[in-house]
Amino acid sequence: MERINIALDGPAAAGKSTIAKRVAAELSMIYVDTGAMYRAITYKYLQQGQPEDFEALVNETTLELTYDGEKGQLVLLDGNDVTDYLRENDVTQHVSYVASKEPVRHFAVNKQQELARQKGIVMDGRDIGTVVLPDAELKVYMIASVEERAHRRQLDNEERGIESTLEQLKREIAERDEYDMNRDISPLQKAEDAVTLDTTGKSIEEVTEEILQLVNDLQ
Ligand code: DC
Repeated sequence: MERINIALDGPAAAGKSTIAKRVAAELSMIYVDTGAMYRAITYKYLQQGQPEDFEALVNETTLELTYDGEKGQLVLLDGNDVTDYLRENDVTQHVSYVASKEPVRHFAVNKQQELARQKGIVMDGRDIGTVVLPDAELKVYMIASVEERAHRRQLDNEERGIESTLEQLKREIAERDEYDMNRDISPLQKAEDAVTLDTTGKSIEEVTEEILQLVNDLQ
C-alpha cells in the first residue's frame, strides 16, 4: 500500500492518543501527538513566569520529538526531556490559552508539517485535518460524551498518579472544548472530508478496528 498520513482530530480526552498509538502500531506508522508540543511550550511559558511575548518565547525554544521503544513519544524542550511534566494540572489549565496564540501555532504547525513530509504518520490534535495536513489520505473526527471523556481522563490520571475528581474533569474538559472551538486561529472543527467517529460506549479495540477498516477502504 502507498504510504499515507492519517489525521485524527477531536475534542479533549476523546481517546485520540490511545487510538492513534494503536493504529500506528498496527500499520507500522509513526504516531505524532501534537497536543504534547503545545503542552511543552506551555510548560516553558509557566517556567518563565507567564510572559505575554509569545513570539520571543518560541524564538528562544527548540522542540524535538524522539521515540523510545517503551515510553513512546518523548518531547525534548531545549534539549531536556519534559515528557513527564506535560500532563500536570497546571499545564493542562493553561494550554488552551497558549495554543491560541499565533506565534505558538505557527511554530508548532511548521514542525508538524515537517514531520509529516516523509508520510507514514498518524497525527492527532485539533486542526490536523483542517490546517496541518489538509491533504491527509484519511481524516477522522473523534467525539465522545463529556461524561465518558471525564471518566476516561480520570482513569488515565489515576494511572499517572495525578489527583482529580470527576466533576473537576468534566468542567475542565467542557471549558477546554469551548476555548478550542471558539478561538480565532485554527479552531477545533471537523474537516469537511473527515469521517466522524463517536466513541461513546465503544472499546479501544472496536474504535481501532473501525479506523483500520477505513484505511483498508482507501485501497
Ligand atoms: O490533545 P491535548 O489534550 O494534549 O491538547 C492540549 C491542548 O493543546 C488542547 O486543549 C488544545 C491544544 N491543541 C491545539 O490547539 N492544536 C492541536 N493540534 C493539538 C492540541
